[in-house]
Amino acid sequence: MPVIRAPHDFNEGSLFVDLESIFGYRLYLKCEGFNFAGSIKLKAANEMVESAERDGSLRPDSILVESSSGNLGVALSMIAASKGYRFLCVTDPRCNLSTRLLIEALGSQVHVVADLDSNGGFLGTRLDYVRALCASDDRYVWLSQYTNPGNWRAHYRTTAPEIASNFPQLDVLFVGAGTAGTLMGCARWFRKWRRPVRIVAVDSVGSVAFGGKPGRRMIPGLGMSMRPPLLDESYVDEVIRVEEADTIHTCHRLARRGFLFGGSTGTVVSAATDWLARHDTRDVTAVAIAPDLGERYLDTVYQTNWLQDLYGDQMVESIRVDSPWEENSAVRPSGRRRRS
Ligand SMILES: Cc1ncc(COP(=O)(O)O)c(C=O)c1O
Repeated sequence: MPVIRAPHDFNEGSLFVDLESIFGYRLYLKCEGFNFAGSIKLKAANEMVESAERDGSLRPDSILVESSSGNLGVALSMIAASKGYRFLCVTDPRCNLSTRLLIEALGSQVHVVADLDSNGGFLGTRLDYVRALCASDDRYVWLSQYTNPGNWRAHYRTTAPEIASNFPQLDVLFVGAGTAGTLMGCARWFRKWRRPVRIVAVDSVGSVAFGGKPGRRMIPGLGMSMRPPLLDESYVDEVIRVEEADTIHTCHRLARRGFLFGGSTGTVVSAATDWLARHDTRDVTAVAIAPDLGERYLDTVYQTNWLQDLYGDQMVESIRVDSPWEENSAVRPSGRRRRS
């Protein structure tokens, strides 16, 4: 029976969903949304705050400031509230409304930048704002998730060993990349312990994290409008880029089976099933990491009007086909999919 005193003292690290009955592959989804911050970012936030406390850069009168598309903002608000720090989250219009409200409910402040940067994203604008704040007042402490080694170290210490202890015979690991903290922490751990695990990084089309052309991205969390400073591609065996349409289809396919996950989970699972479809997977054990759950995406990924406005009628129709309420549904009440 876990009994805790602080919200960041609890994290479920050993929950995996077996996706074989949904997708037909031996693919296990590591669920990182079961903690009070609701996402994998709790780990990075904890590690970065503790290390800033240890090195003396974070003091009782400090004001934490961070650029976040949402989940790190929630995790830092929670830790700040628990430890008595002030926190300002700098985000952009793609941040979900519920995430913004959560940060404010936890007593922190949110600043939303409006201008696009030269890569067509908001990251450059967010970082400029944070830099200007820090230059204006030395009480501001920027943990800088994009460059802070505590970000990847959190996953080296926790996420990777949690996977390895549950799947000692793991063959392939699929990890979505935003700051690349999760990716680098896991990749470094499996390399260090000489485990023959293929590391597949997952990015979204329109992100320039691994090169490629910048483009519109509407789902927050995964992908970057710059190269992640933490990324060392020598640890990555392969990169798969996923279209947002595929992300949305995969999210809805999981939701039809009762698993409501966030947008990046749809992206990572879409990449994983695509990879597994292209390989001989008879003896392959694969794990994908689900960074959060779906409630923060009810007004985006799971909302018909949002989907229609951004992706058109065809997207809405194709999702409807998978609904058990539709005559031509691919899902039968028994849970079996109809063969076409
Ligand atoms: C929803 C979501 N997707 C993807 C990621 C990518 O993680 P990272 O920044 O470690 O690359 C995160 C990180 O929290 C996330 O919250």
